[in-house]
Amino acid sequence: MKLKFLKLVNFRNYDRLDISFHPVLNLIYGKNGAGKTNLVEAIYVLSLTRSFRYVGDKTLIRDEEKVAKVEGIVNLNYDTSFEVLLSKEGKKVKVNHNKVAKISDYISKITVVLFHPDDLRFIKDTPSTRRKTLNISISLIHFEYLKMLGYYKNLLKQRNAYLKQMMINGNLDGAYLDILTEKLVHYGMQIHEKRLEFLKKLNSYLGEFYEKITGISGLQVEYLSDYNDLTKEEIMEKLKKGLQKDLLFGKTNFGIHTDDLRFLLNGKDLKEYGSEGQQKNAIIAYKFSELELFKEFTGNYPIFILDDLFSELDEEKIANILNLLKKDVQTFITTTEIDWFLKKNVVSSYKSIYVDDGCIREEKNYE
Ligand SMILES: Nc1ncnc2c1ncn2[C@@H]1O[C@H](COP(=O)(O)OP(=O)(O)OP(=O)(O)O)[C@@H](O)[C@H]1O
Ligand SMILES: [Mg+2]
Repeated sequence: MKLKFLKLVNFRNYDRLDISFHPVLNLIYGKNGAGKTNLVEAIYVLSLTRSFRYVGDKTLIRDEEKVAKVEGIVNLNYDTSFEVLLSKEGKKVKVNHNKVAKISDYISKITVVLFHPDDLRFIKDTPSTRRKTLNISISLIHFEYLKMLGYYKNLLKQRNAYLKQMMINGNLDGAYLDILTEKLVHYGMQIHEKRLEFLKKLNSYLGEFYEKITGISGLQVEYLSDYNDLTKEEIMEKLKKGLQKDLLFGKTNFGIHTDDLRFLLNGKDLKEYGSEGQQKNAIIAYKFSELELFKEFTGNYPIFILDDLFSELDEEKIANILNLLKKDVQTFITTTEIDWFLKKNVVSSYKSIYVDDGCIREEKNYE
């Protein structure tokens, strides 16, 4: 999957922008605050209709303006145009200039894997951040996943509300609780299966990528879930045994809504033992693994974005990462440090794009 062309109108600090991209590697450079992240953010918005930064859609619209537009031509099997229109009232999306009524039908047509320095939160933050990130990845591969997740969340809410009612009103209908529990477990098991499958496949790549970047072997992601290794009957049994506790807390304590992940380097949790650089390399290895997984599931490589790749990494690791880039994966890298890159000559075919104050000042193709 390759993004050939991008047009922006009133997006962040871009007033208007028309730019074509290199099919293999695009190096976006410029000073702090120039608009490098904004540019790759636009690509992400074109794919998922929202930002990867933890912000609302409104902040994407250029200050003082009412409407923003991101438009792109992507080569899927043939050239296809995509459009995301953002306004204070909401957003609209189009494919080949035809309106797509449901955003969910639009999302996942263009797939993007993105690394951003904030992604270290994936290791450092709470389990809920990790689940969210995992959910986004899986939903891009399995279209029904978000639906299952929606059903599960809804049933969980209903079950929790009913538990509270039972506590207040004394003995309500236990049979109704059983129905809710049964349905909850039904969807929970489907979600668990997808997560397990995803992480298993991911692990088949992760260690190797991490080793190629750092020279150290033994990185794995561990999936922590209440449902691990249990049959449906055993899960139902656990929920039955936990009923008193659930009633006491007014919520369901056992289930896939408490799932978590750990990055283990030879058995040691990177959250507690890893340096900043190690954590960053682990996340980058995770992203490289995701690329392969997407390719496996969808038949196409996604667009790959590495925002602020070079900061905090030593030269050897950066060179190793650049050596992992593939010709059939279109990659976007943003950096403040172009000189290093040019000097090293690690990559021969690419386009350099100099950004300054929301404008492209210079574009150069190197073949
Ligand atoms: N809605 C908006 N309207 C106008 N300008 C905006 C808007 N949102 C952000 N900006 C401006 O965009 C700039 C930040 O751009 P961006 O995050 O792309 O910088 P960057 O080049 O990635 O910098 P760094 O090297 O520090 O990461 C800031 O100057 C900010 O004021
Ligand atoms: Mg930036």
